[in-house]
Amino acid sequence: MTTSTVAQVLHEAHDRIGSVRAERTGRLRTGVDLGTATCVITVVDDAGTPVWLDFHRTAAVRDGVVVDFAAAVTAVRELKARAENELGVTLDSAATAFPPCVGEADSRACRFVVEGAGFDEVTLVDEVSAANATLAVTDGVVIDVGGGSTGVGVFEHGNLVALDDRPGGGHHLDLILAGALGVDLADAERRKRAADEDYLPILRPGIERIAAAIGQLTRGAEHLDLHLAGGALMVPGADAVIGKYLNRAVRCYPHALLITPLGIARYAS
Ligand SMILES: Nc1ncnc2c1ncn2[C@@H]1O[C@H](COP(=O)(O)OP(=O)(O)OP(=O)(O)O)[C@@H](O)[C@H]1O
Ligand SMILES: [Mg+2]
Repeated sequence: MTTSTVAQVLHEAHDRIGSVRAERTGRLRTGVDLGTATCVITVVDDAGTPVWLDFHRTAAVRDGVVVDFAAAVTAVRELKARAENELGVTLDSAATAFPPCVGEADSRACRFVVEGAGFDEVTLVDEVSAANATLAVTDGVVIDVGGGSTGVGVFEHGNLVALDDRPGGGHHLDLILAGALGVDLADAERRKRAADEDYLPILRPGIERIAAAIGQLTRGAEHLDLHLAGGALMVPGADAVIGKYLNRAVRCYPHALLITPLGIARYAS
């Protein structure tokens, strides 16, 4: 798949936030991304085209670990109800994803959240494989930098040959910005997202720390391009910092924080 085709579907996904797509084909599939920063529901049609997206800001899940089960269930139940109401259908099955290093017990908790919210059948997938259901990288490194962690998967000939993660994501960048500007975390997060000023000089050490983690997790795969997913590296210029630090080719995509949620829905049965 070309970068422009992927960009097109991500623009389409962005346009579907809170706005139903009228024309759709076949059976609908649902993905639930239990992220650290946001919980996202994505519904795609048979062809994988996004038809509905919605999100809920909740701190109920941290790095794939469910820290507040009841709050997570409530968030997903609300997202499910709104999606069904808007689409005029019942959504019975869903896929959900867990970060690479989350063990079986915690990934089971993710499943229980989605079941608890009323989905009868739940498919589990790791979030890097989910991201690649959107990107369709055959030879390359897929990186998902979310709120709390950096997940890295190496794909060769279409197969996932290495998968791991490290702590470090957008929350750490917020801590750096808050400290530097003398503001609280919520204010730092708002300012960073608004990008009303060039915060790159302040955030560079934090981004380089993420780059160092990517370097460690991709030894022996230096010849492969890096594909950036997740919201944390949406800081303008972050892709160039990563590329320069590692001296490697970097590909970035619009609305990168929608790459994994969209891919999760494409995994659903
Ligand atoms: N426009 C933006 N500019 C900079 N950072 C952004 C932007 N939008 C989102 N972020 C950051 O991206 C992070 C959230 O990304 P994402 O939605 O991929 O994470 P998540 O899936 O909730 O977390 P995780 O995968 O670590 O559990 C937050 O830290 C947020 O600050
Ligand atoms: Mg995520």
